[in-house]
Amino acid sequence: MPNKILVTGGAGYIGSHTIVALLENGLEPIIVDNFSNANPDMLERLKGITGRDVKFYRADCTDRRAMRMIFESEKDLKGVIHFAALKSVAESILQPGRYYQNNLNALWTVAEVMQEFDIPNLVFSSSATVYGQPVELPVNENTPLSPPTNPYGNTKLQGEQYLRDLVTSGAAIRPALLRYFNPVGAHPSGLIGEAPLGAPSNLVPYITQTAVGMRQQLTIFGNNYNTPDGTCIRDFIHVMDLAEAHVACLQHLLRASDPGVETFNLGTGRGVSVWNAVTTFEEISGKALPYQFGPRRNGDVPAIWANVDRAQEVLNWKAERSFALALEDAYRWQLKAAS
Ligand code: NAD
Ligand code: WQD
Repeated sequence: MPNKILVTGGAGYIGSHTIVALLENGLEPIIVDNFSNANPDMLERLKGITGRDVKFYRADCTDRRAMRMIFESEKDLKGVIHFAALKSVAESILQPGRYYQNNLNALWTVAEVMQEFDIPNLVFSSSATVYGQPVELPVNENTPLSPPTNPYGNTKLQGEQYLRDLVTSGAAIRPALLRYFNPVGAHPSGLIGEAPLGAPSNLVPYITQTAVGMRQQLTIFGNNYNTPDGTCIRDFIHVMDLAEAHVACLQHLLRASDPGVETFNLGTGRGVSVWNAVTTFEEISGKALPYQFGPRRNGDVPAIWANVDRAQEVLNWKAERSFALALEDAYRWQLKAAS
């Protein structure tokens, strides 16, 4: 029998790609999603890629009764990947209460129900945002954390702290905190990808939407940073690499026997500037991208990229796909979505 893994937020961007990777690696994912930021047609798309009907529950992770019923029905779960969260930085500044309520309450409820049902293995979606304005580069897992610049980031920092406090209390829970850098790209089929509601705030969807004519032009936020070309630097990781890291992490948790909390940076270890992103996109698409330089965006850190040694040593995982491939895949997805 394949190991059953509950995937909250499994119909979302990173979740859906992780479902594909779990199936490819002989695990049996079960999705829980309230579809607040996903479309139920995701299940058909996943079938188109994997040929499988993925079991799913439409439920809210903050609903303890619903979560208990799911755990009751899925008795032999081996672990949980908890993606479910609201993730818009801008929205979190306008509606902090909604973000704290949803993100922390969902994590709290899932972790409590896991303990009730004796399921210790928990993979938690954290974010490089917990490094705030990084005090060193590249950042490793022991780099001191700095305050995130927005309520969304605070929910990730507090989520991590809550899980550490749970472990300290002796609770039977084994969390892995995965700090994602900048996930980009899409599955090579072009059937699943990132579909932001409204105008994208993230760079790569903005670039691909501009390329297909959905946006007039890209604004590059700031070209006078203290970086080689004056634009910000990020560590962009292909979403399929990120998905595979979740499989490696679960397999690690399934092998582990000691309780404890572990933290992993998930990036490529390479910094790419916003300007590099624009020129690489122009090369792979053969299109000139309309852009202008604009003022800096509030809250942006000038540069951040990851030291990824720990994930390589402990999980035997490292990102394999290039940034150019991620852009190619993102563009293919965008062209299909626009057609
Ligand atoms: P997403 O919005 O595409 O996916 C999240 C999914 O969770 C959605 O399908 C949404 O409907 C669902 N959801 C939200 N609240 C829920 C609830 N209370 N109950 C049930 N379902 C709920 O986002 P994503 O980009 O796939 O991000 C996944 C996780 O990774 C999130 O926790 C996010 O904070 C984190 N993360 C994302 C990024 C990024 O840039 N995409 C970076 C770092 C961390
Ligand atoms: C990258 C760079 C922008 C859009 C955010 C969240 C973070 C995490 C990932 C969840 C920056 C520049 C962008 C545009 C631009 N999410 N840019 N023009 O800010 O690194 O991270 O997503 O955890 O918490 O903060 O990613 O893609 O928004 O920006 O010039 O239209 O691209 O200024 O330098 P960011 P991003």
